[in-house]
Amino acid sequence: MNDPRYSEFPDGFFDRRDPSNDRWFYDEPRIVNHIDDGAIEGVGSLYERLGISGRVLDLMGSWVSHFQSPPEQLVVHGMNVEELAQNHAAGGALVADLNAHPSLPFRSGSFDAVVCTVSVDYLSRPLEVFDEISRVLQPGGLAVMNFSNRLFPTKAIRGWLGADDHQRCSIVETYFRLARGFGDATAAEVQTSGRDPLYAVWATTIS
Ligand SMILES: C[S@@+](CC[C@H](N)C(=O)[O-])C[C@H]1O[C@@H](n2cnc3c(N)ncnc32)[C@H](O)[C@@H]1O
Repeated sequence: MNDPRYSEFPDGFFDRRDPSNDRWFYDEPRIVNHIDDGAIEGVGSLYERLGISGRVLDLMGSWVSHFQSPPEQLVVHGMNVEELAQNHAAGGALVADLNAHPSLPFRSGSFDAVVCTVSVDYLSRPLEVFDEISRVLQPGGLAVMNFSNRLFPTKAIRGWLGADDHQRCSIVETYFRLARGFGDATAAEVQTSGRDPLYAVWATTIS
């Protein structure tokens, strides 16, 4: 990677056990829940608590976006067109591979919030993606990354696989710090009623 910001991470941090094109892995739709009901409820409660509304992009999404009350305009992005077609909260959908092309085809300031549920660990070029998230957010817009301890191990980056839950929060805080346009990030464990833990890291764009 030529971007000097990646020098903060050890060699091999962004390697993956399965480096093949992500398109093949996500070719078959998975109409499943990736976290338990308690964690899903925790994601929805967090979105309520953070006041997420208006124009929202659900990045690295699937057939469900976990909002208790869907925002006015929800666009869902992901890898599988059939999964996204079943996301009835969303008014628009976009299939795009962020590891192949870490850019978002939206005008600057298009969204009030960007959310990303249990997926940030699959990004192999996260700093470019976080740059793009801040660009497509309006000034003062909110980006929220949340994650549990469940994942597809062949597709997660090695640095994530080797980290514990708290180190994973630090990894995401580092992405926010190194990306362009974000203020300080906040990390928290989100209380849930289930067995899957839930963590979230969020930051707003500098106005
Ligand atoms: C564990 S699923 C989580 C889906 C959804 N956010 C949820 O909460 O159910 C991981 C998601 O990451 C997305 N993803 C993985 N690799 C990606 C890539 N290279 N580019 C874009 N999205 C990717 C896929 O859409 C996949 O559905």
